[in-house]
Amino acid sequence: VAHCEQSGWEAWVDGELGRVRAAGRWRQVRALEGTGPHLVDGDGVHLVSFASNDYLGLAAHPAVTAAAAEAAVRAGAGSGSSRLIVGDRPVHHELEAALAGWRRTESALVFPTGYQANLAVLTSLGAPGCRIVSDELNHASIIDGARLARADVAVFRHGDVEHAEHLVRSWPGRAVVVTDSVFSMDGDVAPLAELSAVCARAGALLVVDDAHAVFDLPPVDGEAVCLRVGTLSKALGSQGGFVAAGRRWIDLLVNRGRSFIFTTGLAPAAAAAALAAVEVCRGPEGRVLVGRLRHLVDRIAPGHPSPVIPVILGSEEAALDAAAALGRLGLLVPAIRPPTVPPGTSRLRVSVSAAHSDEEVDRLVSAMAAVGRG
Ligand SMILES: Cc1ncc(COP(=O)(O)O)c(C=O)c1O
Repeated sequence: VAHCEQSGWEAWVDGELGRVRAAGRWRQVRALEGTGPHLVDGDGVHLVSFASNDYLGLAAHPAVTAAAAEAAVRAGAGSGSSRLIVGDRPVHHELEAALAGWRRTESALVFPTGYQANLAVLTSLGAPGCRIVSDELNHASIIDGARLARADVAVFRHGDVEHAEHLVRSWPGRAVVVTDSVFSMDGDVAPLAELSAVCARAGALLVVDDAHAVFDLPPVDGEAVCLRVGTLSKALGSQGGFVAAGRRWIDLLVNRGRSFIFTTGLAPAAAAAALAAVEVCRGPEGRVLVGRLRHLVDRIAPGHPSPVIPVILGSEEAALDAAAALGRLGLLVPAIRPPTVPPGTSRLRVSVSAAHSDEEVDRLVSAMAAVGRG
């Protein structure tokens, strides 16, 4: 390969990087040691993290880590291939049975990430002739799935059921309504019962992404057919994603879902960890952990419906300054900026975990008040 000093490509990449920097949106990854909310950065500084989605503290639960370790020793570090070739293991099926039981559906299908679960659902269902009706604040994996599907895509105003219904009814063919149940950057909840009623009346399909759902959600009742997408990577403390639905929907995903077919099966250790976590969640300890999380969320924002609490500050600079000030106090709270959220709505995103202590949460509340005053 001929060496070239500064190819057109390199200049283009440098130009792109320059634009990111000039916009004040430079991002980089930062290696942090530790488990749960207690982390240590590269300079040895101890931080209490309010940034992770490990809402129930299960990532470091002894039963969950022991299950992962045992599965890695027994079945190896990786599954070695797509599940449809030779990457399928008994633990995947045990996990799918547990997830279906937990979500009260006929079956479930596990993916290497929740991102891929959304891609598979939307690309398998969103064939030409279909309209995907999507909330404007849905997660990037839903947006990307809708882009990859060859369907018509229509976006409804956040939580606006009438707008969603109009978009469903103005389309003559099949329609899918898709929504996060808890919105990842706002922590508010979707009007699931109303959207379900719209779908039932219009014969549309409802797809609900429960990635951030930990507390009880409004039930999806009525006659609507509903697929639930979930992640193993947040409240379950592991890695991976899943779809819970009736058998025929799962069969379609196995046969048409490119992000299921053309990817290596979930690592056995991740599957075993998620299975142990589901068992914790379904038992008495799960109820205690959810109760503990409820108590901590109420200490910050009484009655808030999820463990994701946004503090909207407006400008990107204000959000970055507030996050830096909290960082100096040993509290890691991420600043969320465009393009993740709309311009002018930059914010701090506080994620609470059952693994936080009351004292840590109280420290955060007083630090945020001080930063706000400062
Ligand atoms: C609403 C939502 N859906 C899907 C995902 C993707 O899940 P995963 O991290 O398992 O890929 C995320 C976050 O990552 C999310 O916030």
